[in-house]
Amino acid sequence: MPRHLGVIMDGNGRWAQARGKPRTEGHKAGVEALGRLIELSARQGIEFVTVYSFSSENWRRPKEEVSFLFNLLRRYVAAELERFVKNGIRVKVLGEREGLDKTICGLLDQVESRTASGTRMQLNLAFNYGAKFELASAMRKIARQVASGELAPDAITADMVGENLYTRDIPDPDLILRTGGEKRLSNFLLWQAAYSEFIFIDQCWPDFDEDTFRDVLLEFGQRQRRYGALENR
Ligand code: IPE
Ligand code: IPE
Ligand code: MG
Repeated sequence: MPRHLGVIMDGNGRWAQARGKPRTEGHKAGVEALGRLIELSARQGIEFVTVYSFSSENWRRPKEEVSFLFNLLRRYVAAELERFVKNGIRVKVLGEREGLDKTICGLLDQVESRTASGTRMQLNLAFNYGAKFELASAMRKIARQVASGELAPDAITADMVGENLYTRDIPDPDLILRTGGEKRLSNFLLWQAAYSEFIFIDQCWPDFDEDTFRDVLLEFGQRQRRYGALENR
């Protein structure tokens, strides 16, 4: 069982288009699939689930789609807040807050603080997230310590980089699942995925269900993780 599962929830638009519907219908159906993922993961005892819901590059989409996605997030968080509290789901938002509108930031702060004492599972919403930006910010922070004379360049370690990422308190993902058929990371958790297992499936995100979840966990269970060492005998 992965301790931390990352999911690139891709294929909403194509799912909708294949059904003659507007892309926005795919995003709505994607929210339902997210509900299934959270429920199934909590039931399996997975400790951390990180979902990629809006990338720093998704701003390149038509502004109608961007604002639809923002409204969807707003409504989703507001509608689910009490359920998260009740079910012990601690929510964290990974991503850049600057440039987001104040009401969204307020809502994100609220969901983080209201759910902070949840102990059953942590749900990380990667929203307005981009790994390259995350790494560049970490480098800026470390560079400032060097510039002030607090830190010698030779003393910089990989752990220090990790401590300056949004994921500082979160173990690296054991498994990253991407739906929708593309085989790439699209700027998701580049640093943290150094030893993640990857599973890419063709199914579009809105079709994600219990059968998919079971198959994915079975495949993960068959992977042999060596971290550069030799297999355990
Ligand atoms: C993923 O589905 C959701 C977001 C990126 C917000 P897409 O919207 O990328 O759907 P496709 O890949 O175009 O089908
Ligand atoms: C990745 O999907 C981002 C999210 C799922 C939020 P994209 O649809 O944006 O990725 P590309 O453009 O196909 O690489
Ligand atoms: Mg896509």
